[in-house]
Amino acid sequence: MTAAPVKSESEIVFTHDKEYVMGTYLRYPVLFVRGEGVFLYDSLGQEWLDFLAGIAVVQVGHCHPRIAQAIAQQASTLMHISNLFHNPLQARLAERLCKLTDMEKVFFCNSGAEANECAIKIARKWGKQQRGNSCYEIITFHGSFHGRTLGAVTATAQPKYQESFAPLMPGFRYLPLNDIEALKSAVTEQTCAVMLEPIQGESGVNLATAEYLAAVRELCTQRNVLLILDEVQCGTGRTGKFLGSQSVGVDGDVITLAKGIADGFPMGACMARGTAATTLVPGDHGSTFAGQPLACAAALATLDVIEEEKLMQNAAHVGSYFKSCLQKLQAELPGRIQEVRGRGLMIGVQLAKPEAKAVYSSMMEQRIIANAVGDSILRFVPPLVVNESHCDRVITALKNALVSLA
Ligand SMILES: Cc1ncc(COP(=O)(O)O)c(C=O)c1O
Repeated sequence: MTAAPVKSESEIVFTHDKEYVMGTYLRYPVLFVRGEGVFLYDSLGQEWLDFLAGIAVVQVGHCHPRIAQAIAQQASTLMHISNLFHNPLQARLAERLCKLTDMEKVFFCNSGAEANECAIKIARKWGKQQRGNSCYEIITFHGSFHGRTLGAVTATAQPKYQESFAPLMPGFRYLPLNDIEALKSAVTEQTCAVMLEPIQGESGVNLATAEYLAAVRELCTQRNVLLILDEVQCGTGRTGKFLGSQSVGVDGDVITLAKGIADGFPMGACMARGTAATTLVPGDHGSTFAGQPLACAAALATLDVIEEEKLMQNAAHVGSYFKSCLQKLQAELPGRIQEVRGRGLMIGVQLAKPEAKAVYSSMMEQRIIANAVGDSILRFVPPLVVNESHCDRVITALKNALVSLA
């Protein structure tokens, strides 16, 4: 009798995943078991260079010792306390975030979608207080991504994420990005907020131009409408400034952060200033886990590392190096790369042909983790600790991929 073949660790995991986990994700067949800095290690001990970082999450690198130590220390001191009680770490983190963003108050939550839900609730209540019950419309933009909860997915102006879940929330209107005339004619007495990502991440690193953002700010001020900036992906130092909007000198009234704020520990924050900062009162909003000591310890340590290791400067410097290498590759391989765009370490490569998935697969075979967005865009959002030689490796792998697919 022959013995049944022994299954590998990864085969067992893939089988269990398929059987017991809801099929909401398409997963690449690799099993990562360890991370360190810009590298992940799979179950066979192979090293992968991570230019995705969760998806723009692992800001200071995988398992940074300072973050690991802060979490471990806090876990053995006080892990959770109800928001019915004061929490010294939460108070410290709130002050720090307000100073970094020029905001006045913070509501903590656990994810980007939750941060945006909070922003939507602030905008609706604020609108009613300003102009009565019919002032609840929020304008968002084609190609946006604000999360998967029902409110956030309604704000996300991409039919592919919405169609199965209709009817959506009433009170949203969608416009093209970077068209100020369209926005001017869409804002009415019923508009309470304009909500946008300074750099759209999920739809392929599409930048709101500096002129457009300045004009949106001016319009919102003139018409007494809140400007909500979703900084969930482009915030926390990724573009070289703490906020993506700080690169172009535009302030929001409400700002949302999540993803990289605690280097992978779940946390989100909705921040506001002016009357928007005091709109919510006890009973209006809350969350059991939000702002718990463990998450705050991780976030405070993340902010320390970003500051002490000068990671915003690194993001700006290495980001522009990476972008220039991509532009050189564009010149070297005519007809393959249509555009290289982005700021700091949030970079999109628009391919001339719909071959993003094939390029992504080829790069993964070379153990470089990137991301294909739709048919023709590659997105790179690495940890902010990457250096030029890491970028060189990615360029070599991308070149190999493009040449082999020619
Ligand atoms: C700009 C933006 N907003 C919100 C979200 C939703 O964040 P989360 O997945 O943490 O709910 C994302 C996630 O990709 C995002 O990129």
